Amino acid sequence: MKKILLSIFIMGFGSPFSAQKSIDQKVSDLLAKMTVEEKAGQLSQLNSDWEDLTGPILQKKDEDKVVLIQQGKLGSILNVRSVAQTRMLQEYAMKSRLRIPLLFGQDVIHGFRTTFPVNIGQAASWDLNLIEKSERIAATEAAAFGIHWTFAPMVDISRDPRWGRVMEGSGEDTYLGSLIGVARVKGFQGKGLGNIDAVMACAKHFAAYGAAVGGRDYNSVDVSLRQLHETYLPPFKAAAEAGVATFMNSFNDINGIPATADAYIQRDLLKGKWGFKGFVVSDWGSIGEMVNHGYAKDKTDASLKAILAGSDMDMESRAYIENLPQLVKEGTIDIKIIDDAVRRVLTKKFELGLFDDPFRFCNDDRQKQQTNNPEHRKFGREFGSKSIVLLKNETSILPLSKTTKTIALIGPFGKETTANHGFWAVPFKDDKDRIISQYDGIKNQLSKNSTLLYAKGSNVDDEDRSMFAEAVETARNADVVIMTLGEGPNMSGEAKSRSNIHFSGVQEELLKEISKTGKPSVLLINAGRPLVFDWAADHIPTIMYTWWLGTEAGNSIADVLFGAVNPGGKLPMTFPRTEGQIPVYYNHYNTGRPAAKSTDRNYVSAYIDLDNDPKYPFGYGLSYTNFNYSDFQLSSEHPTGNQELKISVTVTNTGNFDGEEVVQLYIRDLVGKVVRPVKELKGFQKIFLKKGERRTVTFSLNPESLKFYDDQLSYEWEEGEFDIMVGTDSENVQTKRIYWKK
Ligand code: NOJ
Repeated sequence: MKKILLSIFIMGFGSPFSAQKSIDQKVSDLLAKMTVEEKAGQLSQLNSDWEDLTGPILQKKDEDKVVLIQQGKLGSILNVRSVAQTRMLQEYAMKSRLRIPLLFGQDVIHGFRTTFPVNIGQAASWDLNLIEKSERIAATEAAAFGIHWTFAPMVDISRDPRWGRVMEGSGEDTYLGSLIGVARVKGFQGKGLGNIDAVMACAKHFAAYGAAVGGRDYNSVDVSLRQLHETYLPPFKAAAEAGVATFMNSFNDINGIPATADAYIQRDLLKGKWGFKGFVVSDWGSIGEMVNHGYAKDKTDASLKAILAGSDMDMESRAYIENLPQLVKEGTIDIKIIDDAVRRVLTKKFELGLFDDPFRFCNDDRQKQQTNNPEHRKFGREFGSKSIVLLKNETSILPLSKTTKTIALIGPFGKETTANHGFWAVPFKDDKDRIISQYDGIKNQLSKNSTLLYAKGSNVDDEDRSMFAEAVETARNADVVIMTLGEGPNMSGEAKSRSNIHFSGVQEELLKEISKTGKPSVLLINAGRPLVFDWAADHIPTIMYTWWLGTEAGNSIADVLFGAVNPGGKLPMTFPRTEGQIPVYYNHYNTGRPAAKSTDRNYVSAYIDLDNDPKYPFGYGLSYTNFNYSDFQLSSEHPTGNQELKISVTVTNTGNFDGEEVVQLYIRDLVGKVVRPVKELKGFQKIFLKKGERRTVTFSLNPESLKFYDDQLSYEWEEGEFDIMVGTDSENVQTKRIYWKK
């Protein structure tokens, strides 16, 4: 009887032990059955050609990929997004010998069906909960469309706003960038891979991509090892510690070695010291591009160098499919290297549950539920408003009254819809109808008896001044003018570096013409990076930085304009006075000849024609209310060893509105084995205070926060003097000095 039961069990449900088989064992079993061609296939990812296709493959150009899938020689596809398409391709994979499911990857960067502020705008919220929640929503939506894997978060630190990709990052600060990166990983991966609403995250671009020389995309990076560890690597380490499933390497070379072939960062650090168990995907074509770098003589050589250095999956180079089998057969590559990479990829496919059901992410009902989801839109509206940074409100014209008789909205972005998505949005056919323009957002909140006028005034990026006269006339007819200017959504993002980061085209001229009318005006700046707008900053009394805010942009902006939301965003990146000041960042060194005042020019580290300080510092942002800082206290002026230092400050809302404030903590290590920055962010808290309310905010520091990399790359702290600073931004701080003894 027992025997019969056992054999039924075996026949009906597979081996009695199989359920308990670890993923590791399952991967080993599968690896043992795979040919080297199939292994190379698992390490290869190609782009989708199936944009609009939901039926059988018809186009000639696709046949090759379908054949590869059916032969089990392709592991992953990117840019395919819909239940119908992913199902169709997965069905081809199920015709292959070993039925290994495909992985579907997609750049889900600032939302998916519901888009959110571009990432630098999100960072301006300094709100880790909102950021995590936005990625939770993005993951839920993307997973419902058959996607398993997003190529985010981008955790590149950058000090150069000319670099177009700053829109996708969290700005210039390593500490803030690390926390935001972790929040994003948590949001994407939710309760863990295997849940139907979790997608794999990908920390990119490993590494130092944001340090591209001259801010030019894809350019070389020359950075000391110490700086690499201090500034650029920590967000990646933090993402690895948070359990990010994958990494993507970067296009740039670091000190002469293309990152794709950099064994030090990929093998020694990531997979070695940091113990990362996921896999590394190359950036698009970056294996093949090592030929252009002059680092590999051909794609075969590039494949060898990339796989040896720890690049597990080849995105779009077709280098691995074409070369790895031969390199193994001739004995140039040990199969163990390939097996390790394939193991990493297959493990993730098991963890996602794809071997249990390759179609589990292909569910039409879920897809429908996640289209135009009202809860997600509601969240997007809130997130948008919390990302806005108020730069100036000198005449306190804001918040506007909803009964203002006539408002004129002027500028090329006023009636934009899809542009609000920002650069990385995944396009869908119904986008235009779903996105709230600034015009509609304002109109919807304005009282029925008021009038909203509109004039485009100029295009985004040409010399056409023919619309000026109408715009000036429109302004004259209004009580308040809202100007909406900036750069187009396609002027930041990948391959969108700019040498001139002023408002594009003739927008500044338009602004000058309108300001001659003398009408009270508000300037909204739409951008994916810090722009240079010195004239506006000096002449326009009210300025809000609105980035690109996503699906609900118009509503978010109107909420802030009319005061339903009091702006509380703070800049995650320093705003320069001119391009010539770049790179300008708050955590610089003091130098041997620091300027005592920012206007000092004489034989000090300065420009003879420009002040040293930026236009707006890191951490800066105003509110409709005022916050007063008082009673700054430390638990000790002489902490010792591992003692915890408590820092407290009382913040009072002294203005007329309830509001949020980001209270910031900085330190300076006065003397170090290597020189230390004049300020380093070490903590922040976002608090909400009702008008008249006060709260004591407490931070704690321990020696862990004092550590830094010395010239031998040892990570230690040193006894000595430290300045402890708290304040509302990186310039506006109160300081107390302590001596921390070992
Ligand atoms: C190139 C970009 O650098 C990377 O960030 C992106 O994920 C891939 N293309 C895929 O679209």
